[in-house]
Amino acid sequence: MPDIESLLEEKRVFKPPRDFARAANWKRKQVAELRRLGQKPERLWAKLAREQIAWFSPWKKVLDWKPPFAKWFVGAKTNVSYNCLDRHIQGWRRNKAAILWEGEPGDTRTITYAELHREVCRFANVLKGLGVKRGDRVAIYMPMLPELAIAMLACTRIGAPHSIVFGGFSAEALRDRIQDAGARVVVTSDGGHRRGAPFPIKQTVDQACAEAPGVEKVVVVRRTGQPVEMKPGRDLWWHEEMKQASAKCPPAKLDSEHPLFILYTSGTTGRPKGILHSTGGYLTHVTATARAVFDLRDEDIYWCTADIGWITGHSYVIYGLLSNGATTLMFEGAPTTPGPDRFWDIIERWGVTIFYTAPTAIRTFIRLGDEHPKKHDLSSLRLLGTVGEPINPEAWMWYHRVIGGGRCPIVDTWWQTETGGIMIAPLPGATDTKPGSATLPFPGVHAAILDEQGEPVSPPHGGFLAITAPWPGMLRGIWGDRKRFVETYWSKWRNTYFPGDGAHRDRRGYFWIMGRIDDVMNVSGHRIGTMEVESAIVAHADVAEAAVVGRPDEITGTAIVAFVTPRSHVAGGEALQRGIRAQVAKQIGAIAKPAEIRFTEALPKTRSGKIMRRLLRDIAAGGAPAGDTSTLEDFSVLAKLRESEED
Ligand code: WTA
Repeated sequence: MPDIESLLEEKRVFKPPRDFARAANWKRKQVAELRRLGQKPERLWAKLAREQIAWFSPWKKVLDWKPPFAKWFVGAKTNVSYNCLDRHIQGWRRNKAAILWEGEPGDTRTITYAELHREVCRFANVLKGLGVKRGDRVAIYMPMLPELAIAMLACTRIGAPHSIVFGGFSAEALRDRIQDAGARVVVTSDGGHRRGAPFPIKQTVDQACAEAPGVEKVVVVRRTGQPVEMKPGRDLWWHEEMKQASAKCPPAKLDSEHPLFILYTSGTTGRPKGILHSTGGYLTHVTATARAVFDLRDEDIYWCTADIGWITGHSYVIYGLLSNGATTLMFEGAPTTPGPDRFWDIIERWGVTIFYTAPTAIRTFIRLGDEHPKKHDLSSLRLLGTVGEPINPEAWMWYHRVIGGGRCPIVDTWWQTETGGIMIAPLPGATDTKPGSATLPFPGVHAAILDEQGEPVSPPHGGFLAITAPWPGMLRGIWGDRKRFVETYWSKWRNTYFPGDGAHRDRRGYFWIMGRIDDVMNVSGHRIGTMEVESAIVAHADVAEAAVVGRPDEITGTAIVAFVTPRSHVAGGEALQRGIRAQVAKQIGAIAKPAEIRFTEALPKTRSGKIMRRLLRDIAAGGAPAGDTSTLEDFSVLAKLRESEED
């Protein structure tokens, strides 16, 4: 078992500001009651599902739990787009802004609930016209455009599970995901704007589809106007199809367990996992957590900076927010274009009240300097959030002081693609916060710290984070791979979910998440499997063998370090480093490019031939290898590795 005890002892405690606590949706007393109710998760979630979700017909049973398979709100019927749109346009929210959108060049759009409803119905009809039926998968590969939100909601309207692929993934990665999900239709755009220049998207889709014969239709949004090739019979322009489509489309009455979407995430093998989420449970989870953790109110302007291509964007840019009738802001571009104050400028101009971003972004802003946020009036902000990686107390304090002006509570939210929604987080009007701690599980969520055998670890010692009871937003499986689902998440302990994170609890019961303990790296809050990067690197003709590990990085949390053994006739050098990085970008995407590549004659292995990653991690982090090395096959390898350091 890895040694993940923490030396960190954070003494600072921040109470919810009095005014905030007094006005909060969930006050201390209520939270205490909900926590009591949550001791029986079904009772708590049933109450929230009844109060916050519109159902076409009620459930017969709240939970059917045959570990590790759960069904929530069994027999009930609902529809996600109905909950996100129709129920709001029946009242005054009809003309409220649903989406505020800003493109990178500075163009903007404000889309009301009524307008979003019409567009979603139209696109649902377009999909139907293309032959998409209930259960058919639709792949979406698009930058942060309003059409992305429209397309995903349209899929939910007709019961076609979407698979959104982050726009930074390469053609090969897109092809693999399209094929694994068996998508018949791809929705995309000609391009997008990033860092001051248009970049192509459709071209990447063309490359992916050339090797994905199952794709029948590609719908293309015109964003940049750059020239694209339209394949006759396959490719269609979004605006032309929409012109002809009716704005009336009744929402499909879907079973609570109907598949809602697939979202791929990295695991410990070379192949990403298609995480499958379902309708009623997921919707209940993201709706209730968004309302409680972000203390959502009708007058809020909420901005989550995540891309919709990741789970954070699914749950807390779109579904959890629109389901609550909130106003959500979408931004197309990069945080530092045209200048390092772009985010603060957006907050000031739109009057953002709730801001949710990643620790990597916060650390980047710290480095850029306080003068940039200080140029702007950020007084509209009332609540801040973080997600995706552990936040160091120093970054937390900066966020609190410089961005929050010392007055905004911070919600550090722990969750995963697999959990669907937030699992551990403060409730900002009720929970005292400590810099660096995600604090306590959401009511109804049962979390623990266990050891290898599944025995509880007592505070303040570290262990494995575990979820010991089912929750409604939980993944329902890995698409097409039941065995991997059981093995990855449910085989470590009995009937208990294994998230793959190390953590400890302090004496107050607060959770401190220490990061991944498996072979998954968390780079800038994005999960990247070491095996995926390794298999991309060894696909390079000049590479014999490679091992990839993460090392701590001040900004990105983790940086990717690759140890590479070139083929015997090849010398390791700059040219090969460039070639390896290009290979990784081609096979996975630029986000997976190693920060550092070290060449070595051989990799340290155990007698049974397993690469000693722990050792490589120590070397990558700059320290001498610690611990027992008696199983090393070749001790001389170690010394060589340390000499190989790249400048
Ligand atoms: C990490 C993102 C510490 C964790 C929503 C988890 C965090 C992985 C936090 C999931 C947090 C997420 N504090 N670590 N507040 N939030 N993580 O699937 O290692 O992209 O397992 O979901 O991010 O990443 P994913």
